[in-house]
Amino acid sequence: MAWNAACGTAFAALLTIAGVAATSRPAQADTVSIACGAVGQELDVCRKLSDAWARNTGNSVNVVSTPNSTTERLALYQQLLAAGSPDIDVFEIDVIWPGILGSHFIDLAPYTKGAEKDAFPAILENNTRDGKLVAMPIYTDAGLLYYRKDLLERYGEAVPATWEALTTTARKIQDGERRAGQAGLWGIVFQAKAYEGLTCDALEWIASYGGGTVVAPDGKITIDNPRAAQALDMAAGWMKDLAPQGVLNYSEEETRGVFQSGHAVFMRNWPYAWPLSQSEGSPVKGKVGVTVLPAGPAPDGRHAAALGGWQFAVSRYSKHQALAADLVVFMTSKASARQWALQGGYFPAIPALYQDPELLAANPFFKDLLPAFTSAVARPSTATGGKYNQVSDAFWNAVSDTLTGKATAKDSLASLQARLNRLSRGGRW
Ligand code: GLC
Repeated sequence: MAWNAACGTAFAALLTIAGVAATSRPAQADTVSIACGAVGQELDVCRKLSDAWARNTGNSVNVVSTPNSTTERLALYQQLLAAGSPDIDVFEIDVIWPGILGSHFIDLAPYTKGAEKDAFPAILENNTRDGKLVAMPIYTDAGLLYYRKDLLERYGEAVPATWEALTTTARKIQDGERRAGQAGLWGIVFQAKAYEGLTCDALEWIASYGGGTVVAPDGKITIDNPRAAQALDMAAGWMKDLAPQGVLNYSEEETRGVFQSGHAVFMRNWPYAWPLSQSEGSPVKGKVGVTVLPAGPAPDGRHAAALGGWQFAVSRYSKHQALAADLVVFMTSKASARQWALQGGYFPAIPALYQDPELLAANPFFKDLLPAFTSAVARPSTATGGKYNQVSDAFWNAVSDTLTGKATAKDSLASLQARLNRLSRGGRW
């Protein structure tokens, strides 16, 4: 696969570029600790890039692996930061965290030499709190639909443009394949464990039905509405026969495991799953297509992808702030963003890279799917600020109650609305 072949050469090239671009050479060598995620190839890319920085600057880097679940990662970070721990200098943070964690990070603007201006303005705005640039973007994310090209072809079905079409096609293929002896094939897999990933999936269903974003950008709580309930009813319907009960415990990697081993027709996941599904030894290599998530029903239905993405931030409690900032600038540079894209399929947060011929050759769908990224739906983390995680926790639990059949969508959204009203003291976040 061009992806993996490209990556060895690309890293070699990066080492040379990095050698020229390394910002400052410290008088005294030191060790910087960086907390990175380990979903898909994240940790591997993080290690390769930080090793390159260490070689170029004569310092050492200690890469600390963190839990796959963004919710567990947040809990770990909150513990460390609340204790003012100097153990981690650089934190890889989720796009929804600047409001929750921003006060623990330094302003990076004095170190970047304006490099942040290369990034998408909306991400920059998201990462700026009280005039401080609290994080530099690494890559941007959006929910995508993965499908089995070979199975759609075998059954003469088109790539579904609506959720309704997806449901019908998934059922037809699942039934047909099971009759032909594929007992373990499922129609659709997604992230339905009670955590932040379920918030993303459910927000996509609801926004695609025209049911809003739980809390509107002006702070108004909007979740108790009929379209949102219809969207959740649709997903609860899949639980009856199209999705394995196991999805209730799936985060991204479990979902990918089922799809990549050939046991699902459709999968909702982030871009990182693409190169892995096409890697040597993947049972679905050459059989996968990727496109925008389906739209909800007319007249208000639209395609909606949740906006995700990760950034690097430097802790206020770090004993090596300038050095840590230098590492962050290196790891988020244009050259590094190319490596995240070439090896891991991560969408750059730098618009100019979508014109880069080598990147487009390795990831032909970057260009086609870019509009899904630029129009992706943000979770209400800006409107709800430091309370976002409580809002999201209440939301994913309400959705989970619907998927498990504990409550109807209508009832669980009505009690969620009341709960969010109390949490916000009547919408004043
Ligand atoms: C991805 C997204 C992140 C989101 C998480 C949920 O990592 O980039 O923004 O919060 O998935 O599981």
